[in-house]
Amino acid sequence: MVKLIGKKINCAVFISGRGTNLKSIFKYSKQKKSKINIKVVVSDKMKAKGLIFARKNKIISKVVKYNNKEIAERKIISFLKKNNIEFIFLAGFMKILSKKFILNFKNKILNIHPSLLPKYKGLNTHEKAIKNKDKFSGCTVHFVNERLDSGKIIIQQKVKILKSDNPESLSSRILKVENKIYPKAINKILSKI
Ligand code: GRF
Repeated sequence: MVKLIGKKINCAVFISGRGTNLKSIFKYSKQKKSKINIKVVVSDKMKAKGLIFARKNKIISKVVKYNNKEIAERKIISFLKKNNIEFIFLAGFMKILSKKFILNFKNKILNIHPSLLPKYKGLNTHEKAIKNKDKFSGCTVHFVNERLDSGKIIIQQKVKILKSDNPESLSSRILKVENKIYPKAINKILSKI
């Protein structure tokens, strides 16, 4: 059951870096049709650029050091519960969540992955797609389950690989598409509520 607080669903975005997906989700959250409120941002990195955006936009942010995963996750869960967070959007968060954590938010965690899943789970997706001479790569928004990059797919979009592409050029074209499909995927799952 999703509780609608102040008509909007309180959500968290987890980041480790730049935060372009955080920005696009936040922008979407401000649209009238959106049912989400980005209440908090969680980062495992103090220097994540996305934190600057969070502060500028008055989103509560929390940095949690990952020296010990169990302790870190316990701190995050209590922070999320205190803030009545219902959904989590992983946006470039570079830590793998434990099964216990995921069960605390069953079917309420989404992730964006820069490949056409189930192809190329894990890291270095662009290198792999180019090396294998694939014609297309792309990105996928999916639910998070206990297996890495394996949850149910919500939206996936193809991007053509050009002959001239290197991992950086491909990554930047795919990132633009990621920024578009993440809000679309959120809208898709929440429009049914
Ligand atoms: C994206 O490419 C995402 O697919 C991957 O990490 C990157 C995060 O980018 N998981 P940003 O921090 O949202 O700009």
